Amino acid sequence: MNPVIDVKGVVTRFGERTIHDDVNLHINENEIYGILGESGSGKSVLMKEMIMLLEPNAGKISVLGRSLNGISHKDAQELRSDWGVLFQFGALYSSLTISENIAVQLKEYTNISKMMRDNLVRSKLALVGLEPHVGALYPAELSGGMIKRAALARALAMEPHLLFLDEPTSGLDPIGARNFDGLIVELRDLLGITVVMITHDLDSIFSIVDRMAVLADKHVVAEGTIENVLQSKHPFVEEFFKNEYTKERFKEKIKDV
Ligand SMILES: Nc1ncnc2c1ncn2[C@@H]1O[C@H](COP(=O)(O)OP(=O)(O)OP(=O)(O)O)[C@@H](O)[C@H]1O
Ligand SMILES: [Mg+2]
Repeated sequence: MNPVIDVKGVVTRFGERTIHDDVNLHINENEIYGILGESGSGKSVLMKEMIMLLEPNAGKISVLGRSLNGISHKDAQELRSDWGVLFQFGALYSSLTISENIAVQLKEYTNISKMMRDNLVRSKLALVGLEPHVGALYPAELSGGMIKRAALARALAMEPHLLFLDEPTSGLDPIGARNFDGLIVELRDLLGITVVMITHDLDSIFSIVDRMAVLADKHVVAEGTIENVLQSKHPFVEEFFKNEYTKERFKEKIKDV
């Protein structure tokens, strides 16, 4: 099976600073793939490279079967309409209503009628569990959890095959975060999409992530299922996972490790 995303030998530098030095990973169809690593390890930068907002200094990235190296403008536009993104910071345009926010890409990439657009917006609101009246509100009138859902609805507007989520549960309370995790799994199952999710939320990692990569020391120091990753002796991995608190909470999952 061909991976949905294949990252090979990626090197990223900003001036004198090397952020990635030979990053390799692959993401399979239909999985929820986690990208972990400490703050500043280059998770968001890697995601931006996958969605062509940044270009690595070396290496190869292919997404949905297309190499991003030297990609034509037309292919790039096609690819862009085939993924949805929930960014780490600032998800929505504050001057637009929620419905207008969700419709931004539909307006940009399609010629569908306003009626069709309105219908699609309503169905996306329902898909993420927001009531229809929320569409008329502005972002400032929503709670943090509702904003995340609205941003997710916008990411799904073009019915993408691939969804990128940068820290989707950060800033949510534990119940809101678990509800959001549940929604991501439901959407993956319902829509058959592949989800790439940057996270440091241990609950998400243990409960919804299928496979993951841990970024440290400028490359991937552990990759695979949680059982694979827990075998790693890398200090960051040990620090992150193997304290007593984690063991106690997830002992069912990690008892065989
Ligand atoms: N456009 C840019 N220009 C220069 N340096 C950048 C740029 N974007 C990111 N960096 C640097 O690259 C490094 C990695 O940043 P990145 O945002 O990927 O971290 P992260 O792993 O997502 O961290 P966090 O968990 O805090 O979100 C940081 O040192 C950051 O300052
Ligand atoms: Mg980040």
